[in-house]
Amino acid sequence: MRVALLISGGGSNMKALVADMAGDHPCRPCLVASNDPAAGGIAWAAGQGIATAVVDHRPYGRDRAGFETALRDRIDATQPDLICLAGFMRILTPDFIRAYAGRMLNIHPSLLPKYPGLHTHARALQAGDTQAGCTVHEVTADLDAGPILGQARVPVLPGDTEETLAARILVQEHRLYPAVLRRVAQGDRARLDLG
Ligand code: GRF
Repeated sequence: MRVALLISGGGSNMKALVADMAGDHPCRPCLVASNDPAAGGIAWAAGQGIATAVVDHRPYGRDRAGFETALRDRIDATQPDLICLAGFMRILTPDFIRAYAGRMLNIHPSLLPKYPGLHTHARALQAGDTQAGCTVHEVTADLDAGPILGQARVPVLPGDTEETLAARILVQEHRLYPAVLRRVAQGDRARLDLG
C-alpha cells in the first residue's frame, strides 16, 4: 500500500513510520508533504529518496480551501492508499477529511478522549494525572475524536515537566504508530493497546 505522510516540523513520527516500512512491510511511503517550507522532515525524506511536497499555508491566509486544494493536488498525484498525519499542525476542513474518509490516520499525544486539542501534557500535569500517553485514531470531521486504533500509556512521574512527559510519550508514539499502520494495512482495525 502507498502511504502519504503529512508533517509540519521535524517529523520524528514520520521517520519512525518510514523506518518501519523499509523491508518486509505491506506499505511503502509515496510522499512526505508539509505546510511549512522549513520543516526539517522534508530534507530528511528527500535524502531517503522519498517524493516530497511543500505547500506553504501562509500565502493562502484565511483561504483554507485554497490551501487544501493545492495540498490535495500534490497528495493525489502520488495516489496514496493511506494518509498518515504525523505532527501535522493544520486543522483540516470537513471537505478535505471527506476526500480521505476512512483512510487518514493521526497520532495525538494524549489518551483520547482525554485532552483533544493542544497543550495535552500541560493539561495532564495540571490535572494531576498519574498516567498519560498517545493515541492513533482515524481522522474524522470532529477534531481528535475519530475511532481509536491504538493507545500506549506511560506513567506521569513526580517532578515531570511538559518536556519530560512529552519525551517519554514520544518514545511510545514511535512504537505505536508503526504498529497500528501495519495492522491497518492488513485490514485489522481492532484497537491495539500497547500498555
Ligand atoms: C508529537 O507530540 C505528536 O504527537 C504531535 O506532534 C508532536 C511532534 O511530532 N502530533 P513529530 O516529532 O513532528 O512527529
